[in-house]
Amino acid sequence: SDEIEWWEYDDAQEMAEAVAGDVQFIIESAIEARGAAVIALSGGKTPIPIYAKLASAKLDWKRVTILPTDERIVPLGDPLSNVTMIGKTFIPKGARVIPIVPQATADYKAAGRSADALMQDLHWPLDLCLLGVGGDGHTASIFPGADYDEALNGPRERRALGVLPDPLPPEAPVARVTLSRAGIISAKALMIAVTGAAKRKVLEDAIAQGAGSAYPIGRVLADAELPVDIHWAE
Ligand code: 6PG
Repeated sequence: SDEIEWWEYDDAQEMAEAVAGDVQFIIESAIEARGAAVIALSGGKTPIPIYAKLASAKLDWKRVTILPTDERIVPLGDPLSNVTMIGKTFIPKGARVIPIVPQATADYKAAGRSADALMQDLHWPLDLCLLGVGGDGHTASIFPGADYDEALNGPRERRALGVLPDPLPPEAPVARVTLSRAGIISAKALMIAVTGAAKRKVLEDAIAQGAGSAYPIGRVLADAELPVDIHWAE
């Protein structure tokens, strides 16, 4: 994207308020425009205060469909499951939360294909994709590994796929289903929320490297057609 805007906050709480406010505005605008909103929300730990704020937003939640940007392949209800974190813990009743991996399965590629099929039935492009970033520069579950090239450079129509990160990330050492880079960059609004100096450095390096970036988040930032907002708190 030619337009990457940084928003800085003193702490995670302040960031959560601002980001939740932006998410609310995006949802309201989509509901006003076409009566519904479809948004993808990142997993991991950073967005938890954001979702806690969002939970108390006065919104017509039954018009909102939420999916995770990526999911760890574990049974629903598992503490590692992103949709469990998003759906059960933070989002008020009434919203439709889509478990993109309904069951744990050994066949991560098949899980990716069924998530992709499920996404073909959603309103597209997504109204919002809220991303996190890992210390290694991954975003959603686009990690280096066997399926890296497909996740980054696969066909435009492939919105999701199964991936087996190599090495497996210690915080959740399992195969994943993730939005593809193509799916992510097509979203009407792209927001990144991160905390801490290390992730800031990753993002600065990724931006400096441009389209040739070694970081998945660098490719997303370079290829996004619309402005991207980066929210950062110490
Ligand atoms: C996941 C995420 C992932 C996350 C980063 C950052 O399932 O792991 O969706 O992309 O955003 O790993 O995670 P933290 O916020 O926990 O550092």
